Amino acid sequence: MLKLVVLISGSGSNLRALLEATSDESFPAQIVAVGADNEASGLAHAREFGVPTFVVSPADYANRVSWGEALIAEVSSYSPDLVVCAGFMRILPANVVGVFSPNLINMHPALLPLYPGAHAVRDALADGATVTGATVHIVDEGVDTGPVIEQVEVAINADDTEETLHERIKIVERELIVHTVRNIAHAHVNLQELARS
Ligand code: GRF
Repeated sequence: MLKLVVLISGSGSNLRALLEATSDESFPAQIVAVGADNEASGLAHAREFGVPTFVVSPADYANRVSWGEALIAEVSSYSPDLVVCAGFMRILPANVVGVFSPNLINMHPALLPLYPGAHAVRDALADGATVTGATVHIVDEGVDTGPVIEQVEVAINADDTEETLHERIKIVERELIVHTVRNIAHAHVNLQELARS
């Protein structure tokens, strides 16, 4: 059974998809804790499922290194096999990446390497793209630069706004993250190997 710590910053709809999937006993992973960088509304999903939560806010630390140390201590106390950033809107400090990667994955609402960064959906629209998508990738020290694990395309409609497009991408992301975690748990995806390639 793969033990997951999930990190969020916002509403946590992807977290909820994972909580629902992992509450089925036949699913090969379980969420042992959910962490956030603020009192995120999505923490309520974890509480509803009886999963422990924690908040480690950068505002409480003098610099990124000490924030990272606190995050490492909190996450490590649950001994996870995999850390999943599901809408965690902070760039992780190098010390955190160094401890957990490649067992540290992130979801991104675009087909990386296209449109990295915090405004991926807006950037795809501004670019006049007709197709974008969702990516799950290993976190490295860059911003959305780590090896891609899985991707799914989403068509862009002529009348899409950032909100309508992001909602459609998030529907795809929720399936994708559950599918990816299952594949990692079944060793159909080898993160160590992928990180070396
Ligand atoms: C997702 O689109 C994720 O890719 C991005 O932030 C969004 C989080 O949504 N990084 P939610 O909080 O899971 O609803």
